[in-house]
Amino acid sequence: MNPIVIRPAVRSDCPGILDIYNDAVLKTTASYDEEPRSLQHRLDWFDAHERDRMPVFVAEERPKDAGPRIVGWSALNRYHDRAGYRFTAENSVYVAEDFRGRGLGGRLLEPLILAARGRGLHVIIAVIDAANEPSLRLHARFGFERAGLFREVGFKFGRWLDVAYLLRRLEPSD
Ligand SMILES: CC(C)(COP(=O)(O)OP(=O)(O)OC[C@H]1O[C@@H](n2cnc3c(N)ncnc32)[C@H](O)[C@@H]1OP(=O)(O)O)[C@@H](O)C(=O)NCCC(=O)NCCS
Repeated sequence: MNPIVIRPAVRSDCPGILDIYNDAVLKTTASYDEEPRSLQHRLDWFDAHERDRMPVFVAEERPKDAGPRIVGWSALNRYHDRAGYRFTAENSVYVAEDFRGRGLGGRLLEPLILAARGRGLHVIIAVIDAANEPSLRLHARFGFERAGLFREVGFKFGRWLDVAYLLRRLEPSD
């Protein structure tokens, strides 16, 4: 297996981030977007994260005989624009289909939790399709606790979807 490095994202990673996201949009209910997003949309997203000092990480595969490739990413996103929510963020984590099930999700989630603490955040919210077992298990392993289940608030691929909310409170020991 080639080495995979986790590092903070830069703007030129956006095409790689977008490819992974759009593949999940088309094939899964991980995101309730139904149409692929544009590169401009992802660049605007990245710029907003920089402006808000919200972290984005990428997993970069570095083969010896080829150029590097983005194979996963994670981010903290503003939860709400009302001031009282400023100590809360929502997270995203996506791994390229051919790299799932190898622990990369955890390698991408760990620095997010540290970055959240570094910013003085108090709670991370994970919004997860209730049938997304890998994501539920991943977040549970990192101390996210089930806070609620919203039944049939999503609709994709011709069926109603339930959404689980999981919360990770940040402790001084993190
Ligand atoms: C969810 C995701 C980020 C997890 O990343 P990953 O690198 O595959 O994670 P891991 O290899 O650490 O596996 C996570 C857990 O799911 C389990 N798992 C893996 N594939 C599974 C499957 N098909 N069914 C059930 N559990 C599965 C693993 O055993 C592991 O469980 P554990 O933590 O109890 O050991 C990744 O699968 C992904 O990108 N999926 C598509 C996008 C997505 O769902 N993003 C999250 C949106 S909320």
